[in-house]
Amino acid sequence: MSSTEEILELRKKHFLAPIVHYYKKPLQLLRAKGIHVYDEKGKEYLDCIGGIVCISAGHNHPRIKEALRKMLDEDEIQHTTTLYLNRHSTDLAKELIKEAPKGIDRVFFSNSGSEANEVALMAARQSTGETTVVNLRHSYHGCTSTALSHCGHSTWRYRAQPTAGVTSALEPYCYRCPFNKKPESCDFECAKNVETTIQTSTHGKIAAFIAEPVMGVGGFISPPKEYFTRVAKIVHNYGGKYISDEVQTGAGRCGGEYLLTKELEIDADMVTMAKGLGNGAPIGAVMMKTEVSDTLGGKMFFNTFGSDPYQTLQARLSIEIIRDEKLIQNAKQMGAFLVESIKTMSRTRKLIGDVRGRGLLLGVELVKNQETKEHASAETAELMELCRERGLLVGKGGLFGNVVRFAPPLTITRAQCEQALKALDESLFELEKRGV
Ligand SMILES: Cc1ncc(COP(=O)(O)O)c(C=O)c1O
Repeated sequence: MSSTEEILELRKKHFLAPIVHYYKKPLQLLRAKGIHVYDEKGKEYLDCIGGIVCISAGHNHPRIKEALRKMLDEDEIQHTTTLYLNRHSTDLAKELIKEAPKGIDRVFFSNSGSEANEVALMAARQSTGETTVVNLRHSYHGCTSTALSHCGHSTWRYRAQPTAGVTSALEPYCYRCPFNKKPESCDFECAKNVETTIQTSTHGKIAAFIAEPVMGVGGFISPPKEYFTRVAKIVHNYGGKYISDEVQTGAGRCGGEYLLTKELEIDADMVTMAKGLGNGAPIGAVMMKTEVSDTLGGKMFFNTFGSDPYQTLQARLSIEIIRDEKLIQNAKQMGAFLVESIKTMSRTRKLIGDVRGRGLLLGVELVKNQETKEHASAETAELMELCRERGLLVGKGGLFGNVVRFAPPLTITRAQCEQALKALDESLFELEKRGV
């Protein structure tokens, strides 16, 4: 076994410069089971971020382990491409399409969310003959070239990254409304801004609009249902395809349907997924309407590892486990319990500015002052350290890194939620005591 110091040294020597790690003293994770992960000393942590929002059915689920063992024992082919037939990818396609919004019946499997978005953006441009895609400020769609050109965070963007054919609408960020509206005075100015953006920064037709139904990297910004209804109409009026990026929100995490697009009745032409789809296996998916898929006909498209048997098997079993163990209902109940508890906590813990999200995709935005809403970025980093000391792993996000992110496996129990809440409350108290 390599020590944490050895691994860190090798990373410093050989990994690319922008590869960072959480925590001042990085954490080496070796084993995992259910919601728990274990470091090299055997210390147990409650994993409330699941990689980065990947663990849906729980780490090392026994059903998945058994199926993988069987595949290996029976010498099932480990790698094959879509140039040959293999039942695992079609079995997954069948199960996944059952969960798709009405009218979406085609799927392609990739290795990641970025690749899924690349395909969706390419398909939108091919099918409309238009170039321009509208995205949202504060959004994130991946680190490949086209996906990155749609990133609404300067922190993730690179110098000289081409962004031709891209324009951004203002963010539907209720807590920090770019129009300075309050819920009582809101008239969906952010939705109307999609139209203004098309009218003022395109030639009047677009290829697509791409958005996450909850903005993950942006800090679990969670616009109301009506926003999407209004925007989808605008997008279609201007000839564009609606791409719903469900890389973080999918796989039942939001506690209503397997896909949030379906629950919110978003009139999407394409939906992309990854993360929770494979419960940790590297797989993404782009789903689309037949009419969009048909426009790609006659061209070649290939992805060496897309549709890999091991990945597609794990994704199908994850869908089945989510159904059989009623994990979507659990996400709804536990998510509601966590939100209510953290809202109550915010009465005494003044660092908490906003609590938001859907199901088990929860953001707690930390602010230095609840009135002025100054971003509490250093405090958020410190809070993560304190939570870690108390055996709780959470993530962080937001343009200014001041949103604590909770995205535990959908199996989380009430007792585990209480344990997480206790660690969070104690950590916030410690921060206040220190006057950080
Ligand atoms: C909403 C969203 N889309 C796309 C991606 C890119 O996925 P991947 O890292 O698997 O390429 C991410 C990753 O965090 C994401 O959050």
